[in-house]
Amino acid sequence: MNSNTQRLLVTGGAGFIGSALVQMLLARSGVRVLNLDKVTYAANPEALERFAQSANYRFVRGDICDRPLVERLLAEFRPQAIIHLAAESHVDRSIDDAAGFLQTNIMGTHVLLDAALAHWRALEGSEREAFRFLHVSTDEVYGSLGSEGLFHEDSPYMPNSPYSASKASSDLLVRAWHRTYGLPTVTCHASNNYGPRQFPEKLIPLMIIKASRGQELPVYGKGDNVRDWMHVSDHVRGLLAALERGKVGQTYNLGGGVELNNLELVRLICRLLDKELAGRRAEPHEELITFVPDRPGHDQRYALDIAKAERELGWAPEVEFAQGLADTVGWYLGNRAWWERILNDRYDGVRLGLV
Ligand SMILES: NC(=O)c1ccc[n+]([C@@H]2O[C@H](COP(=O)([O-])OP(=O)(O)OC[C@H]3O[C@@H](n4cnc5c(N)ncnc54)[C@H](O)[C@@H]3O)[C@@H](O)[C@H]2O)c1
Repeated sequence: MNSNTQRLLVTGGAGFIGSALVQMLLARSGVRVLNLDKVTYAANPEALERFAQSANYRFVRGDICDRPLVERLLAEFRPQAIIHLAAESHVDRSIDDAAGFLQTNIMGTHVLLDAALAHWRALEGSEREAFRFLHVSTDEVYGSLGSEGLFHEDSPYMPNSPYSASKASSDLLVRAWHRTYGLPTVTCHASNNYGPRQFPEKLIPLMIIKASRGQELPVYGKGDNVRDWMHVSDHVRGLLAALERGKVGQTYNLGGGVELNNLELVRLICRLLDKELAGRRAEPHEELITFVPDRPGHDQRYALDIAKAERELGWAPEVEFAQGLADTVGWYLGNRAWWERILNDRYDGVRLGLV
């Protein structure tokens, strides 16, 4: 193997963000990727088939909670960095049953940290100096904002859902493994991602798919909960900037700077579909909107201050939201077979997460 090759272990590389990351990495020269993914319901088998064409790629189907497996992979592959995305990621599912979230997001992160620490301690010289554990987290760990203000990297942790509590726990473990044992970690907190290949349980794909089939569009509560939206490609670029330029032990907020409440967002999707599907539906898609009982513990607003990432990582989001959303709608309309297979096999669009 070329000694200049960078060996990266990616966990969760079959998921929505992980597969976009692996795709971007494999397009670079001099990078070898080992993707460790359990292939849960949320994984994207089609992405795995695509990556398999690359000589610089290896896939292992396995669980990050499996300590012997993780230790063996680190010994064999000798990664120069670990980018940790594997997680249970859907808030509504965490409300229905938190156990899998605690297991993967907390215990799995613990296994990875322990194995990474042993691996890092055995490295020498410049390899030891350069090693990084990049932890991919969410803005949801900070809790909920009122109508004013932004989350900063030093905002207090106030998670409100089982999902965000499990991610907050994993962040604190990462912090402790750095402060106590010196493991060179960097953590990123991202806002809501959107883009192609997002699993249909998430808001944007769910609304596109339901609207395109003429089904009711369930908007939680009054639809006034605000999220900050970032294109997945901007997130992936931010992660790579954090890997290259992030300071050890630091955390960085990565957000798109596009605040919308859910109702505004669903209306934008409806207008795009009115244009794309002109002639196929007599009534505007907005007439499909129905208000349904709110999510328990629903955070009111997330918004991120990204000045630190701009300053220290030289990163800023680039995808203009109107274009990114139009492209995303276009992708789902052009890839019906992708999501129809999921609707038939794994998730039929039913409401989740009601206590
Ligand atoms: N989607 C977002 O908007 C968003 C925003 C901020 C942060 N994040 C974080 O980014 C990461 C990726 O999110 P995503 O939206 O791509 O999630 P996803 O649900 O689409 O994918 C998760 C992937 O992890 C894998 N996985 C789950 N449990 C595993 C285990 N025990 N062992 C190995 N692999 C396992 C799944 O098979 C899947 O491929 C998560 O850590 C999430 O918390 C997501």
